[in-house]
Amino acid sequence: MTNATATPPVLRLDRVSHTYSDQRRRTTVLRDIDHSFERGTFYTILGPSGSGKTTLLSLASGLDTPTSGTISFEGRDLKELGLGRYRNKHVATVFQQYNLLTYMTALQNVVCAMEITGVRPAQGSRRARALRLLDDIGLDTSMATRSVMRLSGGQQQRVAIARALACDVDILFADEPTGNLDEDTAQGIIDTFRDLAHEQNKCVVVVTHSQRLATQSDRVLTLRKGRLTEQVNRPMTAGGTRGFRGCRPPSGAGCEPVGYAGMSGRRPCVGSVARRSQPTNPASRTRPPAREPRTSPPAQPAGPDRTSAHPKGNIEAATRRMFGSRRRLWRS
Ligand SMILES: Nc1ncnc2c1ncn2[C@@H]1O[C@H](COP(=O)(O)OP(=O)(O)OP(=O)(O)O)[C@@H](O)[C@H]1O
Ligand SMILES: [Mg+2]
Repeated sequence: MTNATATPPVLRLDRVSHTYSDQRRRTTVLRDIDHSFERGTFYTILGPSGSGKTTLLSLASGLDTPTSGTISFEGRDLKELGLGRYRNKHVATVFQQYNLLTYMTALQNVVCAMEITGVRPAQGSRRARALRLLDDIGLDTSMATRSVMRLSGGQQQRVAIARALACDVDILFADEPTGNLDEDTAQGIIDTFRDLAHEQNKCVVVVTHSQRLATQSDRVLTLRKGRLTEQVNRPMTAGGTRGFRGCRPPSGAGCEPVGYAGMSGRRPCVGSVARRSQPTNPASRTRPPAREPRTSPPAQPAGPDRTSAHPKGNIEAATRRMFGSRRRLWRS
């Protein structure tokens, strides 16, 4: 029986192709990509350098339009919705090159993004919220009030992440967000992304070259030769490398992550596999099962209080939970 009233995916790509052209040549980067992205899910996209990952994110985030095909948000074609509205209200992006406003401080970058997207904290000023967000990811007031040009690459990357988190949107895109970060800081970012998806019902899409990050996501996609495919066989442990220790019998446990002890007190999100009983079919065991209905409300209505209406707290609180234990480490 089909369900005629099924909710459309938060993001849908239908036969999306993209070709770059100049006077001399045409380069087709994406070919007929069909994929749905759901709320409450943390995706990673892997692929060789030059395979089109950044191109895909720029289309999916409404920065560019595909040569052919359709991209829709909650069932509405982006062209109909309006790319500007989509970018302002529904998506935030952590860019590969950060794209910070270099004549501003870290704090001003975050506040500016909140002003543009119309985010108003339920309590306190935008400035206070931005300072808390920055502090939660290890940038204290003295760093926050410094020109971003005077921050290290990793610190700038964290400003870019704080700026995206401050916007409290439906979909968060991040392009190599942990490329310049040490392992512990990177793990904190991964934990935050996972929490955003699982506890706040956001859709999080992260482009990465890091297998370690990918193993902690719900769904691993690979972009190669213009095609996007879902990786069925999740990375396995081999000779002590990080990955999964293999699968337990289907009595309730799935693949168990190894190699992260001491970096994060939290269970990697493959726990969505480990937490539930798994079918014996090995192919289906490697994919997270369909999500159960959430007790929390799925989408926050656009409006002044979007940042705090969620019963589990807002992004700021989630970030603080994730990063609280790491602050001392970063400040040392
Ligand atoms: N504006 C552009 N004009 C022409 N070609 C482009 C443009 N932007 C990207 N390309 C080409 O499109 C291809 C995909 O680039 P893209 O930046 O999307 O790759 P990527 O997978 O993000 O790579 P990386 O992992 O190195 O960041 C590359 O061959 C690149 O040279
Ligand atoms: Mg790229």
